[in-house]
Amino acid sequence: SRLQLHSDKLDSVCVLQDVDSTNSYLMRGDLLTSGYSVCLAERQTLGRGRRGRTWHSPYAKNIYLSMAFGLSGGAEVLEGLSLALGVAVANCLSDQGIQGVGLKWPNDIWVDGKKLAGILVELKGEAEFGWKVVAGLGINVLMSENDGRGVGQPWTSLELVSGKQTHDRSLWSAFLIESLIETIERYRTNGLSSLLDDWSKFDILAGKEVTLSGVEGGGVCHGVDSRGRLLVDIGGKVTVVNAGEVSVRPN
Ligand code: BTN
Repeated sequence: SRLQLHSDKLDSVCVLQDVDSTNSYLMRGDLLTSGYSVCLAERQTLGRGRRGRTWHSPYAKNIYLSMAFGLSGGAEVLEGLSLALGVAVANCLSDQGIQGVGLKWPNDIWVDGKKLAGILVELKGEAEFGWKVVAGLGINVLMSENDGRGVGQPWTSLELVSGKQTHDRSLWSAFLIESLIETIERYRTNGLSSLLDDWSKFDILAGKEVTLSGVEGGGVCHGVDSRGRLLVDIGGKVTVVNAGEVSVRPN
């Protein structure tokens, strides 16, 4: 069957066999249009995660997808964007029948207490567009124990969570691209408030006790504020936590 992408905002899709990182690839290029450019790769030799971690990227197993686009606004527009991207992916996965999808603030995608996907947002100031944003999404699809993933945080894959062994990565990529563009467009027009209901549906930290690195003791999560910052009750006082300031570990 023929794949059709519906968004008229999608300007280009490039599919590479090997690349250092799809995020790096799009960060190197100039933003030439006001729409979206997508880069997909079969393998990344230097796949990157948040906080300087590496993202395990074996050949033809998973989805490594980056999307470049322009965004105008101050720092708060970027805080909210992180959450909007997570909502786009979580909605897409659950619309396609994946059960038990959750978001761990700011935008990790977890299922059954294991990480299924992660998002890395990178930025460059650009006179014409405000920010050039590169949003990178890694989703484990067919990766198994034999693919050389070292120990670290527990992970899972679409194959493992769905119990199905056939997953068409092209089709999944198409669904994800559409959901991302649709959600980012919604975010541009209406801001994060229009996505907060979706966020709380998927929020796996709500009511959970967490440890905040760099903060003495821990607290209990209370959702997010209108800018997408995590709210944590620390000793009876609700405190606002910015992404990037702390890493959050459920106790
Ligand atoms: C994380 O959870 O730490 C974020 C992982 C992001 C991985 C994706 S794979 C496609 C894109 N290219 C990269 O080098 N990283 C992102």
